Amino acid sequence: MTFVSVQVTFLYCCSTSLSSAEISPCAKWSPHGKTVAGNGLVGDTLTQLATPRGIFIMKRMNTLYIADSGNYRVQMLPLSQSSNLATTVVFDVREPSKIYVDDDENGPTIYISVFIGNRVEKWTKEASKGIQLGDECRSCFGIAVDKEKNVYMSELDREDVLKWSPQTNLTKVVAGQTDQRGTTDKYLSSPHGLYFDRNSDTLYIADSGNNRIQKWKKDALSGSQVAGSNTSTPSADTGSLDEPEGVWVDELTKIVYVADTMNNRIIRWLPNTSVGDIIAGGEGSGNATNQFNSPSDLAFDSEGNLYVCDTWNHRVQMFSIIDNKPCSSTSTGKRQIYSNWIMITIILSILRCIIEGLF
Ligand SMILES: *[C@@H]1O[C@H](CO)[C@@H](O)[C@H](O)[C@H]1NC(C)=O
Ligand SMILES: *[C@@H]1O[C@H](CO)[C@@H](O)[C@H](O)[C@H]1NC(C)=O
Ligand SMILES: *[C@@H]1O[C@H](CO)[C@@H](O)[C@H](O)[C@H]1NC(C)=O
Ligand SMILES: *[C@@H]1O[C@H](CO)[C@@H](O)[C@H](O)[C@H]1NC(C)=O
Repeated sequence: MTFVSVQVTFLYCCSTSLSSAEISPCAKWSPHGKTVAGNGLVGDTLTQLATPRGIFIMKRMNTLYIADSGNYRVQMLPLSQSSNLATTVVFDVREPSKIYVDDDENGPTIYISVFIGNRVEKWTKEASKGIQLGDECRSCFGIAVDKEKNVYMSELDREDVLKWSPQTNLTKVVAGQTDQRGTTDKYLSSPHGLYFDRNSDTLYIADSGNNRIQKWKKDALSGSQVAGSNTSTPSADTGSLDEPEGVWVDELTKIVYVADTMNNRIIRWLPNTSVGDIIAGGEGSGNATNQFNSPSDLAFDSEGNLYVCDTWNHRVQMFSIIDNKPCSSTSTGKRQIYSNWIMITIILSILRCIIEGLF
């Protein structure tokens, strides 16, 4: 009797845990996106956007934040709603590029890289004005925040990434060589989007001018490539990228998802592989449901649905996850990564069961 109930509890517990969104390395999304923000026409009403360049999903509140660059504002909308009506939460910022939303006790705190304003601003909940963090960030594009709330910011025109520490109030270069572009591992070229992996203390950089994604471990003096070709030349084959502007990293599997901007596609790169696979777009530039016009950022919600910031279509597209099954045993290259993934998932499930006191 007890045995049966424990079994049932375990299965129930694990099945709910498994369905809540660890993304399989072989997951598939609908090829057709649905517009969730903007209406496809450039404009400044609350249902429109103008060249959005960054998106962020705050999982706990299930809300989408959009750097509505051309309108100098940040828009927010609940993902549970069916309309594209957004609320303005940040305004008068001269071209916000990317955003990071921190789930503070006092409510969401928004960090914004401000491109023309050459700085990073932090807006606390319901603020009417932001505060600058750190020194000048020239042509500030990417932003990321680590566990200690250090802020990483990319200087697009200066080929480097800065880090500001709230403990010391100092800003220093942590990746690339200031004002020098290059193709070897100590250089960057027009760094765009950033992603900080809190599990491995590693910064991922969309090294746009070099058509690659680089990762820089904390305190490293050079980076290493995780996506793109080894020649740093742009191309549309699946072993290359073309001026990628956004990167999103799965902290469990280390799979790198790239907004491959000039190729008008979202591409997934497994660790230690030399080719990626296209998960959305890749059908040329256009405004059809399976197309993009310069996608610059991406994010996933807690169910694994994919959101893409479709800059020159002035919209955010959502692609439903339609298959989150494990990789089949025939895709040998993915087997190891998958087994790591399933192991971590099971461990997390068991931990969750224990924490919830169900054992
Ligand atoms: C989508 O593209 C077509 C063809 O280029 C164009 O006629 C149409 O106006 C576009 N729609 C929007 C909403 O921009
Ligand atoms: C941090 O440094 C900036 C200059 O980079 C200065 O304007 C600001 O007042 C400093 N903040 C604190 C709390 O010391
Ligand atoms: C670059 O990649 C290609 C294809 O994967 C490979 O054939 C070539 O040897 C690599 N070149 C270098 C310098 O690593
Ligand atoms: C990738 O390769 C490196 C060294 O070749 C290895 O240390 C690392 O564990 C590999 N990563 C994965 C996820 O297989």
